[in-house]
Amino acid sequence: MSDTYTHPLDAPDADPTQVAEQAAADIARLTGVDHHDIAVTLGSGWGRAADLIGETVAEIPATEVTGFSKPALSGHTGAIKSILTPAGKRVLIIGARTHFYEGHGVRRVVHSVRTAAATGAKIMVLTNGAGGIRETWHPGQPVLISDHINLTASSPLEGATFVDLTDLYSSRLRGVALAIDPELDEGVYVQFRGPHYETPAEVQMAKTIGGHIVGMSTALEAIAAREAGMEILGFSLITNLAAGIQDTPLSHAEVLEAGQEAEPVISALLAKVIDRL
Ligand code: HPA
Repeated sequence: MSDTYTHPLDAPDADPTQVAEQAAADIARLTGVDHHDIAVTLGSGWGRAADLIGETVAEIPATEVTGFSKPALSGHTGAIKSILTPAGKRVLIIGARTHFYEGHGVRRVVHSVRTAAATGAKIMVLTNGAGGIRETWHPGQPVLISDHINLTASSPLEGATFVDLTDLYSSRLRGVALAIDPELDEGVYVQFRGPHYETPAEVQMAKTIGGHIVGMSTALEAIAAREAGMEILGFSLITNLAAGIQDTPLSHAEVLEAGQEAEPVISALLAKVIDRL
């Protein structure tokens, strides 16, 4: 063994599925819960949902789980929680996300999703804070993700793994959300690499190619979740209108503020949806 620390996913002979199985075993040992039914990644603005979904059975720092890194972002808690819903379902809450723009490679970006699948979760709920392209949308509004366009020029799939992405953001699960809030709008999420926000010209491009939401996460995670056989529900909180759609410059502070203001409402919505899944 060399003295230099190598991340378990970066080792030359690493198998991402095996690392995820190890992580799931860590979660089972540290939480005392050996199986989860649903997993939820909480992005900016969605943090409070965990408290409304059910009883927190255990909370552990993500850094104690194999392959998880410290969150690079304020607004992400870095905690993993095991929650028991009133209906008796086990929900794994992932408050730590590794973004593609951190430059650690796509394996680390999707490790939490693969770990969720290895804990037994059959449904993956992905949430994020994002920019809105539709002028009728306003900061603080939650929207369902109906499909995505992946502009990262990357994929979490390795080798000749040809995975179908039709109905990636399950119409069945969107139907469950719409039954709770029929006012929910939906749109196509466009993942850019970031971490810079888009230029107004890039936002116009995203619009022209069929996008409605711009962000820096989720699409790669959704692909990995589909590969792992999970059903996916995606929610974006519109924290701002995208560059050039709003005439003021974008700031991370504005994004966080919109998230904080919307948090109670969207968290309650998410908790209701999860209760029906
Ligand atoms: N673009 C990309 N990511 C974002 C945005 C945006 O406008 N707002 C919040 N995350």
